[in-house]
Amino acid sequence: MKDAQERVEEIMGLLERSAGTAYYGEPVTQLEHALQCAQLARDAGESEEMVLAALLHDVGHLLEDEAAERHREIGVINHDEIGASYLLARGFSPLVAELVRGHVEAKRYLTATNPAYSHRLSEASAATLALQGGPMNAGEVRTFQQDALLVEKLRLRSWDEQAKRPGWAVTPLEHYRALLLAHLAG
Ligand SMILES: [Fe+2]
Repeated sequence: MKDAQERVEEIMGLLERSAGTAYYGEPVTQLEHALQCAQLARDAGESEEMVLAALLHDVGHLLEDEAAERHREIGVINHDEIGASYLLARGFSPLVAELVRGHVEAKRYLTATNPAYSHRLSEASAATLALQGGPMNAGEVRTFQQDALLVEKLRLRSWDEQAKRPGWAVTPLEHYRALLLAHLAG
């Protein structure tokens, strides 16, 4: 594995370049979305791992993975799994990776259990749901309810939904360099 500093630069590079990419069907860029999501976690007084998971939850969309099936309008299919595997391989904690992995599951859970949530989903998010497996079935719902990180995964999901505000000025990317380094070198 590359040293921690190099891994931090790699992640920062991915995020910096995502300033040039729109967040599928939403009025913000990928970078704005990531920074707003992390800001919501910080504002809620969450742990550093939760903040990092929020910042990096869509990293799977930013990777040039040959194996990933990419749709122009909706991004990388399975970006949750791809992102989680990528973060584990870069030395992020299993907790951060698992939270990232869970953010699509959480959407599938909420659409199965909360009709009001389904109505609130943005058009783009509703369109990707079918490709992500659609709402969970009853068995999947029961399993997810036993998940040790249920509450955290749902919380991350709610920030994800909210992090689509055009023009919201939040803490800039540079702030997260030290946090990333502390996590990866720790
Ligand atoms: Fe997202």
